[in-house]
Amino acid sequence: MICDYEGSDYKTRFWQNADRAYEDAAERVALRRLLPPRGRRIVEFGAGFGRLADLYTGYEQIVLMDYSRTMLEQAMQRWGDDPRFIFVAADVYHLPFADGVFDAATMIRVIHHIAKVPEALAQIRRVIAPAGVFALEFANKRHIKSVARYLLRRQAWNPFDLHPVEFVKLNFDFHPAWMLDQLRQAGFVTRRKLSVSYLRAGFIKRRVPVEWMVYADALLQRTAWLGLWAPSVFTQNYPAGSRQSSRDGLSLAGDAIFRSPRSGQPLRREGDFLVCDTDGTRWPAQGNFYDFKM
Ligand SMILES: C[S@@+](CC[C@H](N)C(=O)[O-])C[C@H]1O[C@@H](n2cnc3c(N)ncnc32)[C@H](O)[C@@H]1O
Repeated sequence: MICDYEGSDYKTRFWQNADRAYEDAAERVALRRLLPPRGRRIVEFGAGFGRLADLYTGYEQIVLMDYSRTMLEQAMQRWGDDPRFIFVAADVYHLPFADGVFDAATMIRVIHHIAKVPEALAQIRRVIAPAGVFALEFANKRHIKSVARYLLRRQAWNPFDLHPVEFVKLNFDFHPAWMLDQLRQAGFVTRRKLSVSYLRAGFIKRRVPVEWMVYADALLQRTAWLGLWAPSVFTQNYPAGSRQSSRDGLSLAGDAIFRSPRSGQPLRREGDFLVCDTDGTRWPAQGNFYDFKM
């Protein structure tokens, strides 16, 4: 089951017409802290309309991947003329990439739509290079407000319970200990954690200039050692047990980075398609747009 954003007005409704300048800026601070500014090839899983793509322009190749074609169309309006960008419609449960092709990856505001977290993380782990980095944001069920609501009996679910809570269909909040354990089981070592967006509240936004809020957030982000109590948690993860930097996947270029999402087998170009001789699938691939939706 996939949370389908096809045709969604997410960009205008959630960001442009809503008071979320603070959240956007705080997330940028966090991502800059966790992501090497330069590298060979970066991917954002669930990139949406490319809100954060300007943070990736130090990379030689930038892959914006999303399940929704219309979100990617919006991203292409902004970034489509830059030859470093490619746009990939695909499902994070069935990634159409060869092993180890990315030296950096991000997933922000997406895993809260993922019902089968172990399956998604296993796919992501597979496509990250041995010395690559994966910055993951997740929504924290044990944040200050939910704890207060629970203690005041205004919220039925227990924020200290380890299991994910699905508060709306295909919208999950996660306990930090649970998510960190999922990352470990998927083969990642989490090196850094940041508590982001502590000040996400209307009464603060109405009284405090956004620049001050972002300044304060940048300080609060570093309090993760006191426990993760913010609504959003950013993590920096590396493949476990691999200090060597094999360039096998990274050295692939052009269409060679892709695999059939159905069988994982190589593809060859045939006009405006990538074709898999093993499983018989054909995937549209025109210019810088690749469509692997199954
Ligand atoms: C809340 S938006 C976040 C977009 C962007 N990361 C941002 O922070 O602005 C969630 C995005 O995840 C995408 N998404 C949800 N489930 C997905 C899946 N299974 N595979 C790929 N993308 C998915 C949606 O299409 C949507 O664009």
